[in-house]
Amino acid sequence: MDDRLTRVLQLSDFEGLAEATLERSSFDYIAGGAGEEITLRDNIAAFQRRRLCPRVLVDVSKIDLSTEMLGGRVALPVGVAPMAFQHLAHPDAELAMARASVAAGAAFCLSTLSSFSIEEVAEAGDGTDAPHGFGRPPRWFQLYVHRDRGVSAELVARAEAAGYSAITVTVDLPVAGYRMRDLRNDLAYPQRFGNFPSTGSERPLIETIAGMNDRSLAWRDVAWLRGLTKLPIVIKGVVTADDAARAVAHGAAGVWVSNHGGRQLDRSLATIDVLDEVVQAVAGRAEVYLDSGVRRGVDVVTALAMGARAVFIGKAFDFALAVGGEAGVRRAFALLTAEVESTMALMGVTSVSRLTRRMVVP
Ligand SMILES: Cc1cc2nc3c(=O)[nH]c(=O)nc-3n(C[C@H](O)[C@H](O)[C@H](O)COP(=O)(O)O)c2cc1C
Repeated sequence: MDDRLTRVLQLSDFEGLAEATLERSSFDYIAGGAGEEITLRDNIAAFQRRRLCPRVLVDVSKIDLSTEMLGGRVALPVGVAPMAFQHLAHPDAELAMARASVAAGAAFCLSTLSSFSIEEVAEAGDGTDAPHGFGRPPRWFQLYVHRDRGVSAELVARAEAAGYSAITVTVDLPVAGYRMRDLRNDLAYPQRFGNFPSTGSERPLIETIAGMNDRSLAWRDVAWLRGLTKLPIVIKGVVTADDAARAVAHGAAGVWVSNHGGRQLDRSLATIDVLDEVVQAVAGRAEVYLDSGVRRGVDVVTALAMGARAVFIGKAFDFALAVGGEAGVRRAFALLTAEVESTMALMGVTSVSRLTRRMVVP
């Protein structure tokens, strides 16, 4: 292993190394949040405010971290969140990320704005060994709904044909958040897309999003989306009980609690602070997922005990990709697996299904 990777002992160590590796504007694009970055920081602080109640004298010689995500088996309840433009982190982009997730037996969600195409990423990881006893972990496709609905319909059809097993529709980005670092850096995105014809020119994200995303998207459109595909629909970007209940009423199989890692509405609620109300509103009628601010195994265990089926991580995996490509992301997964396992052992819990709400206090 690359010498730098052996010195990475926790997920947050990747950030400083990525900062030293990447161009300023690319690093800031990944690291930054919207506005004053209050939500970006609060996502992490909110996890740190919680305390755990361990059980002792439990035989923890075997710990099972596996679970099911919409019927797909995973070895670890942590997936890679959809992230645009992964070529800004590393030339192998989503191909490396997808391969490393297969090696970890973990879910991977591909962004609409990926650097490689739906079809290229569908094959990435073929031939990579999954953990013993596990097949290919779930691979989901994340949809930004295009103002030309035909474009979105085609993306969904392509994802289904290529073997993706769920469609995640992101609903917290009717417009791009005010990301001050990108504005200051005058970041112009190379218009290099895996799934769209590349223009070759450069444009700011706000313009790119404005040119593509449908601001009129509303609850009525969930029925349209469901009509396009047999795949389960996951609604990503929910932070209130009301919206969680609506998502279920509109047929969502999954409710993904997210504030986009603090990149959209600054001063939005931290996700772990709203998990209780969402889990209550969903009441077992759909699977609940969470991202934004997950940095340690103890965060993963906290979210699972509070009712999330699994969590996703964005930035930290993108930094790991920047530092070491596929090997970097593998290292990130290895550290997380070790931390989750250690936390479970110290909690006196032998499988993720045995975590309960009473184990976490504010
Ligand atoms: C560089 C970057 C690009 C992102 N691009 C997308 C995207 O294309 N689609 C999407 O639904 N979410 C996108 N997100 C949000 C992530 O899916 C996820 O919600 C967020 O990163 C979770 O927070 P965390 O970074 O604190 O783990 C992006 C996040 C980052 C850091």
